[in-house]
Amino acid sequence: QIPVIIDTDPGIDDAVALVIALSHPRLAVQLITTVSGNVDVVQTTNNALKLVEFMGKKIAVAKGCARPLLIEPEDASDIHGETGMDGYAFPGQQSKVVDAHAVEAMRRVLEQSDEPVVILAIAALTNIALLFSLYPEVKSKVSKIVMMGGTLSRGNTTSAAEFNTYVDPHAAQMVFQSGVPLVMVGLDVTSKAVLTPKEMTQIKTFGEVGEMCYGLFQHYRGGSLKTGLKMHDVCAVAYLVSPDLFRTQDTFVEVALEGPAAGVTVADLKMAYHSVTNCAVCLEIDVPLFQNWLVEHLALAGEK
Ligand code: BDR
Ligand code: CA
Repeated sequence: QIPVIIDTDPGIDDAVALVIALSHPRLAVQLITTVSGNVDVVQTTNNALKLVEFMGKKIAVAKGCARPLLIEPEDASDIHGETGMDGYAFPGQQSKVVDAHAVEAMRRVLEQSDEPVVILAIAALTNIALLFSLYPEVKSKVSKIVMMGGTLSRGNTTSAAEFNTYVDPHAAQMVFQSGVPLVMVGLDVTSKAVLTPKEMTQIKTFGEVGEMCYGLFQHYRGGSLKTGLKMHDVCAVAYLVSPDLFRTQDTFVEVALEGPAAGVTVADLKMAYHSVTNCAVCLEIDVPLFQNWLVEHLALAGEK
């Protein structure tokens, strides 16, 4: 089993990613940390707690940063709804957030782990940048970061920037500069990873998990089901367990910090400016295989 920390801002695609990660036999999720992003951190934390409980798991959830490192917060409630997970009535939630900030909780897990841990980062990188800045010694305990964020083509928030890197560009830049092995699962692949009405009909039948996902999907982007729903964060989980679905290239990525390019991930694909690489960027995804993977994994999650 691969030990994993998930840093997240649920968020509808985060919810699907979490459900799959929590039920995957090869993943041992040690901790879930939350951050502001799709909605504020109080909501993302509540949502993470609800999902863990819904999946019948006992995994610690630690609340993280309420705002980006240097700039004002911006949310995506227009896409994910006011609560971030509208569309399903979760049973009353019993579990509580752990009594430590996400950064402290991550440090503890990393220090105590006998094996290196993967960080699955599916939100703005604020908590992780802060972790590496306060406790650089824990970097050696991170085997890699698989992050959903960035794009080498068009943006989904500004013309050229993806939401997670746009929300906290300074944090993203710090993580790219951290020296920790990094896989960037950006819009270049995640925009193609769509769930169509065909998969939706199948997923709906997967017990409570299917009903929950189906309910949330009706509220994702106001329920624009016909064009397909982009499963951004799910791709990061898919990369972690089934990297063969993707084609990557090692390169050097940096993040623009200001002006109209703020949050833009610039990759030196030709290695014209750098002699060393700092990440592997996903350039292609096998879409039909990903869609099958998603359906299979939600079916597995549905057996909870
Ligand atoms: C990313 O932004 C968020 O809205 C999604 O949850 C995903 O992490 C996609 O750009
Ligand atoms: Ca997310």
